[in-house]
Amino acid sequence: MPAFGRDMMLVKGSGSTVTDADGKTYLDFVAGIAVCSTGHCHPKVVKAIQDQAAELIHCSNLYYVPHQATLAKRLVEYSGLKKAFFSNSGAEANEGAIKLARVRTGKTEFVACEDGFHGRTMASLSCTHKPAIREPFLPLNPRCSFVPYGDAEAIKKAITKDTAGVIVEPIQGEAGVIIPPKGYLKEIREICDEKDVLMILDEVQTGMGRTGKWFAYQHEGILPDIVSIAKGIASGFPMGAIVAREGLEFSRSEHGSTFAGGPIACAAAIATLDVIDEILPTISRKGEHLKRLLSAYNPRSMGLMTGITLGDACPAVQQYCKEQGVLVNCAAHGNLRLIPPLVIREEEIEKGCGVIDAAIKTAC
Ligand SMILES: Cc1ncc(COP(=O)(O)O)c(C=O)c1O
Repeated sequence: MPAFGRDMMLVKGSGSTVTDADGKTYLDFVAGIAVCSTGHCHPKVVKAIQDQAAELIHCSNLYYVPHQATLAKRLVEYSGLKKAFFSNSGAEANEGAIKLARVRTGKTEFVACEDGFHGRTMASLSCTHKPAIREPFLPLNPRCSFVPYGDAEAIKKAITKDTAGVIVEPIQGEAGVIIPPKGYLKEIREICDEKDVLMILDEVQTGMGRTGKWFAYQHEGILPDIVSIAKGIASGFPMGAIVAREGLEFSRSEHGSTFAGGPIACAAAIATLDVIDEILPTISRKGEHLKRLLSAYNPRSMGLMTGITLGDACPAVQQYCKEQGVLVNCAAHGNLRLIPPLVIREEEIEKGCGVIDAAIKTAC
């Protein structure tokens, strides 16, 4: 089905580079859209997948799954929350968050943000704002009201007696790396406490070290009630999770999944966390370096997540970069999004930014 627009095939990857079907190599500032956190085919991740594939590929959640508890414990430790439930994607993690919020609060509605993206399955799509991807599927469930991003007071006003939760990205990724004002998450936390609704943070794109901490909310010293994770958690092996605070969990049979948290996904995720754990202290520094190199264009960034508003010139910049051997991505509203592997080296950042700089000068 022609649901995706695409014009090239990547067949190989190593570190921060990928090779296309014609043998041309590229520096990858897309990283599978913030997925290939440890770079392409990191040897530790490859080994973990290979070793586990030779032991047990699948057994079902009818049984304790090898590595699942170890991974859950690591996520609980890193997030400061208490209980984990696995999924196969970001949308599915948000489905879990929405279901958990509904079943534990007994309320049915949500508040989310304009330009927010939470996935394309029905419940996650309900909380996704973009009219073009949402409206063909109306009516959607659960009911969700949308308020301007970065405006905590607007969230407060939108909460009603039927609101189960507020779902927000700490930085809007698909919208083009939109960073809210400092203190935004703290204010939402206070509002959710005051109004007795759950605070759900969608860290599918921002989590797992992308912003220089395990989770972006840790920059503001708060804890959400539920955090959803996916993308970078297993270096590209499909996996997601929700982690929730004490007292917030599914009872037996309230939720489930055949594949979620399977042995290979968990092994890949643990190897990924091991790698990220080692490089986490370097991420902010590398992000600052990248930001400095492109400072002429007013970049917005946190860690290795950078957005630059280019408007109509964005596709031409993307095309120029591709021709020069650098993959970049145009997110919404003409915003160039740079989300390279977290393992990218300083000299690769310099090389990539040199091309991006030339591309912007040429196209804008
Ligand atoms: C913030 C956020 N939430 C959810 C999703 C959906 O994740 P997936 O594509 O794995 O379903 C995405 C994907 O881009 C995302 O950026």
